[in-house]
Amino acid sequence: MPTVLSGIQPSGLLHIGNYFGAIRQHVALQEEPGEHFYFIADYHSLTTLRDADRMRELVRETAITYLACGLDPDKAVLWRQSDVPEVTEIAWLLSTVTGMGLLERAHSFKDKLANKIKPSVGLFTYPILMAADILAYDSNVVPVGKDQVQHVEMTQDMAGYFNNTYGDVFVRPEMRLEKAANMQKVPGLDGQKMSKSYGNDIWIFESGKKLKKLCGKIVTDSRPPEEPKDPKDIFVFDLLALFLSADELQDWKTKVAAGGPDAPGYGHLKMRLKDALEEYFAEAREKREYYLANPKMVDEILAAGADKARARAREVRDRALLACGLR
Ligand code: ADP
Ligand code: TRP
Repeated sequence: MPTVLSGIQPSGLLHIGNYFGAIRQHVALQEEPGEHFYFIADYHSLTTLRDADRMRELVRETAITYLACGLDPDKAVLWRQSDVPEVTEIAWLLSTVTGMGLLERAHSFKDKLANKIKPSVGLFTYPILMAADILAYDSNVVPVGKDQVQHVEMTQDMAGYFNNTYGDVFVRPEMRLEKAANMQKVPGLDGQKMSKSYGNDIWIFESGKKLKKLCGKIVTDSRPPEEPKDPKDIFVFDLLALFLSADELQDWKTKVAAGGPDAPGYGHLKMRLKDALEEYFAEAREKREYYLANPKMVDEILAAGADKARARAREVRDRALLACGLR
């Protein structure tokens, strides 16, 4: 039975790009045979988040988001990364067999440099910690978004370096990519990839007036409703496609393409999106309220998850220490 593992950083409120690109897939996988491990990557978030209160709040919010979106603690193990410090030990072992060159080739690191972010050593060695996260649990399958593919490839490389040096200790993981192209790149309010770092995101649980205002901000052009338009040029349709039935979506597209006095304007599309979003996440929003009102329950779920995760990580760590002569 495969072990499926993935992690998500608690570096902001999770948005609908995170939902369709990651959370939804994680939750769906818990129904497949195997063991399912999901953790909140708080050690990783330290590379960008340096406010202790905010960190605590976001870790809790991230856990609640997963539970509200359907993660079932009876089917999947959910824990906080830093509750299993064994991963940092494994990260150290991996760092001693990994060349600088491998890390220098990381796209995410190069992107941050290009954006003039002054890198910490932690940001540079981030892929090593991520490799340790994966290898610490003998993971076989790692569901990730496109942006994390290189990190999983690096994990495969690091497992190889270690095993070649010390014998078979780590299991080589395979990645699993969300196949649907429209799930890989959910557009944000400005049409670029939705991302908390671009400030163009819509929080999963946004609702009411605030959601209406946000949807109103979606960038469109100034062409009037009567003018026939190619739906392909209108990215609001990429967002609508996530929520509407194929028939309803097609109906809107046909009307927009035809133009004329009865054609819907951008405002109509945006308001349809607002209603669809609210409806789609209504149940999750209710569950979130429930967990917010029952914080002890969340603590218990995370503690039980950490116990299970730690037991597994200790076994793997001990195997690795033994192999390199530290035991
Ligand atoms: P952000 O860009 O907001 O900082 P992260 O990089 O923390 O988001 O991404 C967390 C997870 O969500 C990753 O698996 C990533 O692939 C997925 N994800 C993020 N933004 C999008 C998006 N716009 N479309 C699809 N998936 C996304
Ligand atoms: N780096 C991932 C991200 O930013 C989060 C992460 C940390 C992760 N460790 C992991 C994902 C291990 C999969 C497996 O999205």
